[in-house]
Amino acid sequence: MCCKNTMVLKVVALLVLCLLSFPTGHVEGANGGSAINVWPKPRNFSWPSQQAALLSPAFTITTSNAHHRHLFAAVNRYRRLILSEHHRPLVNPTVNFSVNIPPLSSLVVTVADPLAPLHHGVDESYSLIIPTSGPANLNAETVWGAMRGLETFSQLVWGNPSVVAVGVSVWDSPLFGHRGFMLDTSRNYYPVEDILRTIDAMSMNKLNVFHWHITDAHSFPLVVPSEPSLAEKGSYGSDMQYSPVDVRKIVEYGLDHGVRVLPEIDAPGHTGSWALAYPEIVTCANMFWWPAQGDPLAAEPGTGHLNPLNPKTYQVLKNVIRDVTMLFPEPFYHAGADEVIPGCWKTDPTVQSFLSKGGTLSQALEIFINSTLPYILSLNRTVVYWEDVFLSETVKVQSSNLPKEQVILQTWNNGHNNTKRIVSSGYRAIVSSADFYYLDCGHGDFTGNNSNYDNQTSGSTGNGGSWCGPFKTWQTIYNYDITFGLTEEEEKLVLGGEVALWSEQSDQTVLDGRIWPRTSAMAETLWSGNRDSNGVKRSAEATNRLNEWRGRMVSRGIGAEPIQPLWCIRNPGQAEKPDADCCAGANSLKAAASTTEDKRAACNCIKTAAQSIQPNPQAAQALPANCGISFPYTISPNIDCSK
Ligand SMILES: *[C@@H]1O[C@H](CO)[C@@H](O)[C@H](O)[C@H]1NC(C)=O
Ligand SMILES: *[C@@H]1O[C@H](CO)[C@@H](O)[C@H](O)[C@H]1NC(C)=O
Ligand SMILES: *[C@@H]1O[C@H](CO)[C@@H](O)[C@H](O)[C@H]1NC(C)=O
Ligand SMILES: *[C@@H]1O[C@H](CO)[C@@H](O)[C@H](O)[C@H]1NC(C)=O
Ligand SMILES: *[C@@H]1O[C@H](CO)[C@@H](O)[C@H](O)[C@H]1NC(C)=O
Ligand SMILES: *[C@@H]1O[C@H](CO)[C@@H](O)[C@H](O)[C@H]1NC(C)=O
Ligand SMILES: *[C@@H]1O[C@H](CO)[C@@H](O)[C@H](O)[C@H]1NC(C)=O
Repeated sequence: MCCKNTMVLKVVALLVLCLLSFPTGHVEGANGGSAINVWPKPRNFSWPSQQAALLSPAFTITTSNAHHRHLFAAVNRYRRLILSEHHRPLVNPTVNFSVNIPPLSSLVVTVADPLAPLHHGVDESYSLIIPTSGPANLNAETVWGAMRGLETFSQLVWGNPSVVAVGVSVWDSPLFGHRGFMLDTSRNYYPVEDILRTIDAMSMNKLNVFHWHITDAHSFPLVVPSEPSLAEKGSYGSDMQYSPVDVRKIVEYGLDHGVRVLPEIDAPGHTGSWALAYPEIVTCANMFWWPAQGDPLAAEPGTGHLNPLNPKTYQVLKNVIRDVTMLFPEPFYHAGADEVIPGCWKTDPTVQSFLSKGGTLSQALEIFINSTLPYILSLNRTVVYWEDVFLSETVKVQSSNLPKEQVILQTWNNGHNNTKRIVSSGYRAIVSSADFYYLDCGHGDFTGNNSNYDNQTSGSTGNGGSWCGPFKTWQTIYNYDITFGLTEEEEKLVLGGEVALWSEQSDQTVLDGRIWPRTSAMAETLWSGNRDSNGVKRSAEATNRLNEWRGRMVSRGIGAEPIQPLWCIRNPGQAEKPDADCCAGANSLKAAASTTEDKRAACNCIKTAAQSIQPNPQAAQALPANCGISFPYTISPNIDCSK
């Protein structure tokens, strides 16, 4: 028995030797990244010898916290994945493979505080040591941090037979505690299995919040036990609902993957679907959204706002809120409050009489907030609202009605400006700027009979034809700095960010491609940032890494869309372009460079640009002309910017 096994191992080792390319002093990938990568890039990653060893076919993961059911689930899942994945990288990693190193046979997971719940701000740090002999060690403060470390370990294994990077030391911890993805399940329905797969993919990217925008004007898919008629009448059909059993499954799946499930019941706007069960509590329901005369009634087709002056509204809504907090243990509750459209409330006789007595629509919203916010707080929840409740030009409430300790505002308009307005007013912010983080943009207009499309001379569908076009590319998302322009004190109030998929034009058939790998771009920016240790944006360097990562997600069953022809990564340097932005940045730095620090920054920028095209001498020659740089520094990849 023993001899037979040794034989097998020797054959396996020989096979591996044939599969791996050998280093010739070259350890960097084409764009300066090593060829084995973890996405999102860890904060500290050290692998000086670039050595690899076989992964023992009997590899195990052990932990003294196996009684923690979510950690237990994660450990089993990762063990299966690690043993069976046999990932084939797009480009063979250049590693130092030695038959003298014994196969790695175990990973020991140690958690210091296994009771810490998965709440905002929980410690997700971990350290991972994979030595050249003996077991690997993963240490984390919490089980949630251990899950992040297990993911990292899984990405360090590849090939068939499996090999694993050894001589590795990782310390890692996220820059932002809130790293989320928002899905709208009202405009179009998504089956439960697609939501579960999305949570799975989120955890691969170390994202930790699934913001579930469950209900809206178009359908009410959530079965609320004490208000069953809402889904019975307001959903698209009995096969397009989420039962309490479905919700528990999704919440539990989230916990197994370190992903919080944060429910949103949008109100008072975006509630047309409630009118199918309770017409009396909804104003302007089922009216044409864009009347020939007067104000529009909705931001898009699908009208209806909860009536803030009808006591019945609060009976129904409180039942919904109570049941939702029972279904979702998450301490945050998202109460919506975006896009209150004046025209909709103004169609209602009770609102008209309120206004004629000198009331305002903002007061009507204040009544709504006063009648619901204290109730949600009494259920021990922190409330998240869209920024509109505080920043809307037309209908909003004063900050005195929105206690800063208990209310968080989620921004989506005006890029950095609104983030600044929110945090400078003392509120915590979640950043979802539509100009950067909306995944639905650029897919055209969904209204019918739109004569814009018939113009033969202009293609006047402008910008991809949707209100927030153009399409947000992964680079747009990667490069967004969510704390840009904030003071250090203000930065602390930014909890993190969420990309959002509004579902007018998506459902399960396109879900994966709409989300991935663009959401991976945000995942890295919020985990370890988008700059290298010199403070230079690493988006050029990230391209090959993201390409590889996208390939791995696809082989794990996530339909992430391609970001380049496969040819690019197989022909390093050929698909680069002299980085015009970096050149522009370098030029402006050059113009302003009076201090040594500025000169260094300019130098680093030039150096990065030069390095990125280094393998292609023609492109390298093109760089100086393109940049117009004749700065005290020569354009050379070996330039030392520390002086
Ligand atoms: C991470 O790396 C930085 C810079 O190399 C170093 O200063 C720091 O001590 C490291 N932290 C840990 C926990 O390893
Ligand atoms: C490969 O490993 C040897 C011995 O550990 C080391 O001397 C060498 O520098 C390594 N090569 C690379 C490319 O890291
Ligand atoms: C809402 O509540 C705030 C604070 O409790 C109070 O000052 C305000 O008068 C209330 N507004 C209305 C319209 O009831
Ligand atoms: C309220 O929620 C917090 C978590 O956010 C929890 O620690 C606390 O025990 C809860 N309090 C009650 C009374 O349920
Ligand atoms: C932010 O504010 C500045 C200054 O008022 C303005 O120029 C800019 O257009 C605003 N940006 C957005 C995205 O609204
Ligand atoms: C389509 O739009 C045109 C021009 O706005 C209008 O005259 C026509 O009635 C519309 N057709 C339908 C079917 O709504
Ligand atoms: C078509 O688009 C062009 C360019 O935007 C514009 O000048 C023209 O008026 C448009 N024609 C029609 C019929 O709308």
